[in-house]
Amino acid sequence: MTGARVADVDVDPAEALLEVKNLRTSFPSERGLVHAVDNVSFNVRRGEAVALVGESGCGKSVTAMSVMRLVASPGRITGGEIRFKGRNLAELSENEMRTVRGNDIAMVFQEPMTSLNPVFKIGAQVAEAIRIHRKLSKKAAWKMAGEMLDLVSIPDPVKRLDDYPHQLSGGMRQRVMIAIALSCDPELLIADEPTTALDVTIQAQIMELLASLQKRLGLAILLITHDLGVVAEFCERVIVMYTGRVVEEAPVSRLFANPAHPYTRGLLKSLPGAALVAGTPVGRLPTISGMVPPITNLPQGCKFNPRCPDVMDICLGNEPALMPVGEGRSARCYLHGDEADPERIKR
Ligand SMILES: Nc1ncnc2c1ncn2[C@@H]1O[C@H](COP(=O)(O)OP(=O)(O)OP(=O)(O)O)[C@@H](O)[C@H]1O
Ligand SMILES: [Mg+2]
Repeated sequence: MTGARVADVDVDPAEALLEVKNLRTSFPSERGLVHAVDNVSFNVRRGEAVALVGESGCGKSVTAMSVMRLVASPGRITGGEIRFKGRNLAELSENEMRTVRGNDIAMVFQEPMTSLNPVFKIGAQVAEAIRIHRKLSKKAAWKMAGEMLDLVSIPDPVKRLDDYPHQLSGGMRQRVMIAIALSCDPELLIADEPTTALDVTIQAQIMELLASLQKRLGLAILLITHDLGVVAEFCERVIVMYTGRVVEEAPVSRLFANPAHPYTRGLLKSLPGAALVAGTPVGRLPTISGMVPPITNLPQGCKFNPRCPDVMDICLGNEPALMPVGEGRSARCYLHGDEADPERIKR
């Protein structure tokens, strides 16, 4: 097999809203330029919810920030394309990019990173976001701010406009952040762990809200999460990342039924549900053995090989390409290549 075999993904690029191709985002280090995101490709279709999952440090946030062109210097995009409705965002000027951020793509973060300004009323902050995108009088923007709070199911929305952020709960504040993100009427919402800072019951409510907005507004969502339960419930496709690479991509149901990459299998095993079935008490959940290698010191060959229960000789040589493993699925693993080595290495 040649390394050039490209995965046959279910998405017709012509209908993709967002098309990320061979994206590379790099940071300078003592060992030279290191790649937090390396040769990442994926698509998000109109109205679709796609999950980006993987352990901490695997490049999910850097991928999202790259799409928004918000990677903080000295980090920068060093390769690839980010096509939104065909236009390569990687080539736009900062001014043009601001228009994209204001009109086409919006982002919500984990709450602590995006705290609202404590000294301004909620109404003023939502209205200001609206006025950045629409030519409206202050009064009209305030009225629309009330409608936006209603859209994100905040009770008594008109009253809440006069509240200050500290008067709202964490869940209500995240609803306000979602209202602000949606005030530009985006086609794509990138949500980077939008519920991580919230209580479990509130997490579920925020996810229900995002799911209903996706349907009502025809919004596409790229959801970054550690919670595979949320992925199973709310997303249509999953992209699994490891050490800055996509290692598996699949429709949700097929990924859960039959994960193709040993890394994905490990992630699924660490699900609380699986642990309970296996009789492991919560709190001592099985995790994938070993550590994620630092991007400054990645192993030769497949980057998962030091932790992989299925490692073969070939995995220590060249890095595998993303290979098709059935309809709409791909995995970066020699188990699915032509040259799988029957002589397994004893670990
Ligand atoms: N400003 C930076 N300078 C240098 N390296 C960085 C910088 N930001 C991120 N990285 C590195 O890029 C890699 C990917 O980080 P990223 O934040 O995208 O991970 P993540 O998948 O979002 O993790 P988490 O689940 O913890 O949020 C990590 O190795 C991280 O150390
Ligand atoms: Mg992150």
